[in-house]
Amino acid sequence: MTTQRVLTGITTSGTPHLGNYVGAVRPAVQASTRPGVQSFYFLADYHALIKTGDPARVQRSTLEIAATWLAAGLDPERVVFYRQSDIPEIPELTWFLTCVTGKGVLNRAHAYKASVDKNTAAGTEPDDGVTAGLFMYPVLMGADILMFNAHQVPVGRDQIQHIEMARDMASSFNHVYGEHFTLPEALIEESVATLPGLDGRKMSKSYDNTIPLFVPREQLKKLIAGILTDSRAPGEPKATEGSALFQIYQAFASAEETETLRQAYADGIAWGDAKQMLFDRIDREVAPMRASYESYMANPQRVEDILMAGAAKARAIATPFTQKLRQAVGLRHLATGTATAAPAKAAKAALPVFKQYREKDGLFYFKLQAADGTLLLQSAGFEAPKACAAAIAQVQAEGSGALAPLGLSLLGSATPVELDAAMTALRDARA
Ligand code: TRP
Repeated sequence: MTTQRVLTGITTSGTPHLGNYVGAVRPAVQASTRPGVQSFYFLADYHALIKTGDPARVQRSTLEIAATWLAAGLDPERVVFYRQSDIPEIPELTWFLTCVTGKGVLNRAHAYKASVDKNTAAGTEPDDGVTAGLFMYPVLMGADILMFNAHQVPVGRDQIQHIEMARDMASSFNHVYGEHFTLPEALIEESVATLPGLDGRKMSKSYDNTIPLFVPREQLKKLIAGILTDSRAPGEPKATEGSALFQIYQAFASAEETETLRQAYADGIAWGDAKQMLFDRIDREVAPMRASYESYMANPQRVEDILMAGAAKARAIATPFTQKLRQAVGLRHLATGTATAAPAKAAKAALPVFKQYREKDGLFYFKLQAADGTLLLQSAGFEAPKACAAAIAQVQAEGSGALAPLGLSLLGSATPVELDAAMTALRDARA
């Protein structure tokens, strides 16, 4: 089996909270130690600029998130841990992908559509307050993923559409310029909990109901005391179902510990005591990391050095790969290749072409090249040139209908629809 490349990014616009830790940091750090996996984790600071115009916040959040991942046990020697903006190849790839992405596809992106729907409901212009950055968000994310040819991208459900878009970008690019990109897949960890916040809704900065992961002990205790409960008195049995406190406890506790709390609920534990149990359990896991976090926060140069070393590792991949992509799209040194022959070729390139030829084995072959130069079909060898020509004629006449009878299959990511469109174009050009 080849090494699986797993990649994920964290937007640097906030302070990590318990929900981020349980839902993303902890599972990712665990996954990064699995054999046969090469992990890429990065701070998506270009993405942060889409969400905030506050430079101090971007800087602060980048440091906090980096320190969090390191404190949680991410080993920067073992994984590639870097900051997106240290990789200038990523915005360059963003542009290449922009040029193969349908604008209509981006119109359908959830985040963009939500803004448009909100404006429409409010009776304002559909694009009111929408930056081109928000619109382009999925392309930048596609570049993050495709730059390192990630196989798997661990994300939350709200990001699945973005991964699907990255796949589409990869296959469009591959179709036009040849096979350069792996098609990525979203990795959704079913077992990972989504934490409720202080008010019982999903813990999220946008609901202002979070418990930051690394606050001083006393403050953590105060925040936990503020978790919403019902008004049942001590001694009254309590429902675990729908209890935010119980769910958060479960995300930190072992199965036995959870059972103990379940029993305590049934026995009518006082909410104050349940909150104390939750605080003790969380603090037991967080306290050792908190010390490490605080030491990174007090020494940002150390974090900076780690990220610079990560950037060097990432660029050892990104720089040569981008060079290859530049070649592929035609951003080339002018004195190499066939620059002068290009205009004549371009004129002809508007139509697909069949090429018939004889190989050293004495057999006759044909291939079909699409108007953009990608190879759609490649035949097996025919004994006689006549049989070869007859097969070409059959493909021309019947398009994809001729594939099965002739035992041919389409190459790469070519589809029957494309083949049929190509044959129609050929017939139209003749007529
Ligand atoms: N959009 C992701 C989020 O908000 C962050 C992100 C940016 C990302 N680039 C990525 C995630 C690439 C995975 C892969 O959660």
